[in-house]
Amino acid sequence: MRTTVGIIGAGPAGLVLARLLHNAGIDAVVLESRDRAYVEQRQRAGILEQGTVDVLRAAGAAERMDREGLRHDGIELRFDRRRHRVDFPSLTGGKSVMVYAQTEVCKDLVALRLKEGGPLLFEAEALAVEDADTEHPRVRFRRQGREDVLECDYVVGCDGFWGVSRKAIPAGLSRVHERTYPFAWLGILADVAPSHDELVYARHDRGFALLSMRPPVTRHHPSKEVASLSIDSYVSRLYLQVPAGTEAQSWADEEIWDELERRFETADDWRLHRGPITQKSVTPMRSFVHEPMRYGRLFLAGDAAHIVPPTGAKGLNLAVGDVVTFARALVHRRETGSAELLDAYSQTCLRRIWQAERFSYDMTTLLHRDPAATSFDDRLQLARLERVAGHRAAETDLAEAYTGFPLD
Ligand code: APR
Ligand code: PHB
Repeated sequence: MRTTVGIIGAGPAGLVLARLLHNAGIDAVVLESRDRAYVEQRQRAGILEQGTVDVLRAAGAAERMDREGLRHDGIELRFDRRRHRVDFPSLTGGKSVMVYAQTEVCKDLVALRLKEGGPLLFEAEALAVEDADTEHPRVRFRRQGREDVLECDYVVGCDGFWGVSRKAIPAGLSRVHERTYPFAWLGILADVAPSHDELVYARHDRGFALLSMRPPVTRHHPSKEVASLSIDSYVSRLYLQVPAGTEAQSWADEEIWDELERRFETADDWRLHRGPITQKSVTPMRSFVHEPMRYGRLFLAGDAAHIVPPTGAKGLNLAVGDVVTFARALVHRRETGSAELLDAYSQTCLRRIWQAERFSYDMTTLLHRDPAATSFDDRLQLARLERVAGHRAAETDLAEAYTGFPLD
């Protein structure tokens, strides 16, 4: 099998890249080790930056997002039983974010690719990237029990943190910058209307909590007599800081609600709505950057090259930034013959990535309780929060980073 761009992985990075290349008339083959149902059901964060929204719209992949997604103009910071709203448009010259789950972005892109695009092979596991430092890189992969080779002009490793593409970069050239945290997030989905109309990031002595949501699911009534009746089911997405290594099932549903209630407590009459929990999982927290992101004709994008802790929901948005940078560089190469932008890929991406690493780290350390924290650390955290709540420059810095750094 032969193609121009071999894409390993059909997460957000691989799927957005496949769409961008399709629109530019460049062929690509996507290899994905899991099946379609798995890719479409994996629960991840749900906040799209303004720039990501713009990319999906320009790529013709935003029809359902524009119908169902929820535009959010701010977030709430909660600490010391107080509430402080950060208003994005007034601080950033009109920017906002979109609440639309990553799984939905993936479903939309898979459907588009299967309808109009080129090959997207599920249950096709890349085994190795070979000859990355030559003009003819290859991906060895296994599908339906048989080994095959995808011959490419370029390979883009969009295969996430656990993928194989990063391993094709010689150890002597790789630098890894990493930090792990002594906590994780226990996340739930619950069939209940969100208790607030914007996201709430809460700092509490017992640990961090986050209130988020998914767009309501509209279900049409199946009965013929009431054909026009449709019912909106509301979905809350909530997270609790828990110790690293916690098993999701070790928390009973009522314990989760009790703990959320404690951490979100306010001095006013705000109330947490409880409802049936439909999904429970634990997300580990890590900061990780692999440099460089390019080796010969192999380019890493998304989680294959970098991880941020989820506070601030930058993961998907960074992945989109990488693949936009790659697609532009390849189009530039085709139009001008110059490989200048391809050569600059790693540097261009890393500038933005390190800003997002900084922001995600700042948000994480601002809001989570480190088990080793002293009273000094606690007071400092509160002083940092007071600063954001009381000084426009500090608040603007947070709003700008939250809504996203420019792609250029
Ligand atoms: N061969 C083929 N596919 C692979 C292989 C392999 N050897 N290894 C991994 N994959 C697939 C995975 O099954 C997954 O579908 O690559 C895909 C990687 O997708 P993601 O992990 O979602 O990574 P990415 O597309 O970079 O998206 C970044 O995902 O982890 C979140 O928070 C992160 O939102 C961010 C986003
Ligand atoms: C989510 O809704 O899943 C979410 C929202 C904001 C975050 C992280 C996750 O910072």
